Amino acid sequence: MKTYIVGNWKLNFNVGEASIYLHKLLKALPNYRDIDVVVAPSVVALQPLSLQVDRHKLKLAAQNAFYRDYGAFTGEISFTQLRGIVDYCIIGHSERRHIFGEDNKMIAKKMAAAIRNKITPILCIGETESERAFGETADVIRDQLIGGLSEVADDDIEKVIVAYEPVWAISSTKAAKLATPDEISEVVKLIRKTLTEVYGMKAAEKIPVLFGGSVSPANAGAYLTVPGVNGLLIGGSSLILSEFADIIETAKRVKA
Ligand code: 13P
Repeated sequence: MKTYIVGNWKLNFNVGEASIYLHKLLKALPNYRDIDVVVAPSVVALQPLSLQVDRHKLKLAAQNAFYRDYGAFTGEISFTQLRGIVDYCIIGHSERRHIFGEDNKMIAKKMAAAIRNKITPILCIGETESERAFGETADVIRDQLIGGLSEVADDDIEKVIVAYEPVWAISSTKAAKLATPDEISEVVKLIRKTLTEVYGMKAAEKIPVLFGGSVSPANAGAYLTVPGVNGLLIGGSSLILSEFADIIETAKRVKA
């Protein structure tokens, strides 16, 4: 399976800054066959960057989109509009769930809309600090995973990517803590077990599972060697070119 290194820029960089970053990153990046390097800029930057990007080296992701393809939905952007511009879309990020009130039902519709429009969805799931403290991690993970995938046809299940992002490990969270490889391993096992129960082993084995939460050059190697982890979803560190490039190099080393 490929390794996925995905930079989520969140609400950072204007179009000019994004373009300069991308220019420098493309210059620094060789063409990796087994590693998919992806960045998710702000939506205003996507169209210009899509003209600039060399898709053999790097692919673009959207950070969110709406599930209807067109119509009277003021302020929204559809997967249909993103088609041809991005290859991936992050869906159900914890910031969407907790700040913008997205629930499993809405996230499930977005997953289906992405697939319908030939965009690979990256479904983010993860428990909060208090859910973990109350011993609810497994229930939350199962609920977000099964709920988020509920509108995806069985035949399409191999088209999705799952990202485990414990909310308490995300750098912008108050008192963020680093997840340990053991903590990640336990949840990734649960994700694979749940996928196997619902979709069968053959399909479950083909679904990439990424980890995200304060990933940096210092811990990327340890996280990439957790069994069952196929890549990383990176926030803060992806905004610093040298750190992002370092993480990509680490992925290459781990792969070799
Ligand atoms: P940080 O890497 O800044 O913790 O963000 C993780 C994240 O939310 C990526 O989607």
